[in-house]
Amino acid sequence: MNSGFKILGTGSYLPEKVLTNFDLEKMVDTSDQWITERTGIKERRIAHPREASSDLGAKAALRALEMAKISPQEIDLIIVATITPDMFFPSTACFIQKKIGAWNAAVMDVLAACSGFVYGLVTAQGLMSTGGFKKILVIAAETLSKITDWEDRSTCVLLGDGAGACVIVPDREKGIISYHLGGNGSLGHLLFLPGGGSRLPATQDSVNKKKHFLKMKGNELFKVAVRVLSESALKVMEKAGVSPEEISLFIPHQANWRIMKACAQRIGIPVEKIYVTVDKYGNTSAATIPIALDEAVREGKVKEGDLILLDAFGGGLTWGACLLRW
Ligand code: ACO
Repeated sequence: MNSGFKILGTGSYLPEKVLTNFDLEKMVDTSDQWITERTGIKERRIAHPREASSDLGAKAALRALEMAKISPQEIDLIIVATITPDMFFPSTACFIQKKIGAWNAAVMDVLAACSGFVYGLVTAQGLMSTGGFKKILVIAAETLSKITDWEDRSTCVLLGDGAGACVIVPDREKGIISYHLGGNGSLGHLLFLPGGGSRLPATQDSVNKKKHFLKMKGNELFKVAVRVLSESALKVMEKAGVSPEEISLFIPHQANWRIMKACAQRIGIPVEKIYVTVDKYGNTSAATIPIALDEAVREGKVKEGDLILLDAFGGGLTWGACLLRW
């Protein structure tokens, strides 16, 4: 029985449409200066009205498969992390399976908001270690623009669309060498989507009252995010007996540059080791980490044997960090 994995391929896909801070200045009462200073975001990508999360996820998956040099039919499990599924059901993994023709794969979604990719990767490693699966696609795909209130300046400036993916195969020496997953359901009210579920099914009233848009108490989340991201990172380093100097690349969830920087400082990793995409893509929820990982790989910033720290935090609340041996 194998206990680790090797990432054979990574892929990402960002929609073509770019929405800049200057574009947003014309939509809500905000400014490029405010957004840049408070978040580090300069622009984000927005999906086409006919483009759903599975469309983005399938493109990212095909790029990962191409790098891995394996065919979709060889994949035996697809795990998709998303808070913006195409529909409640079938799962977004089912739609992606159909789009890429991965007919031999089991299919499931995980819902852990911005922590979804790390939850998905840990789940994949666990299932692989049972011997049941040999080639797994882990995908995060989000179209947050579809659940964004474009009149709410406190959220619409932060969010974007995109997808990232990776293909993993068993390998004893590599993969997740330590991880920590956590959650706190009592703070769910800080970030949530009230309408459309069994608590508040869609009605004309729920639409009129904007209950189908994401709600966020950003200021309160900020403080929890810095603390929880730092604690999770320290836990996984301690579990693995790894010091901050040994980390080659730090890929935290990309919600806000100030959060990322504060977290790196607390855990003793130089800010130069943070891989940053938040300036170009904003917060794409579960997709921020695999998009950043793919870009880092394609830029040659990841070498065999490197230690990469993934660190996520999001709605739920949920959090998850893992230390990857490349
Ligand atoms: N443009 C201009 N002014 C704004 C904007 C805007 N877009 N949004 C808010 N403001 C105003 C507020 O009204 C407030 O004005 P006031 O002082 O007159 O009341 C002022 O700016 C400061 O607002 P704060 O909310 O205190 O600003 P803060 O510095 O906390 O930044 C932000 C807000 C960017 C949302 C920050 O709190 C943040 O990033 N929070 C964390 C978000 C996060 O981590 N989410 C976790 C993951 S969730 C996910 O990934 C989906």
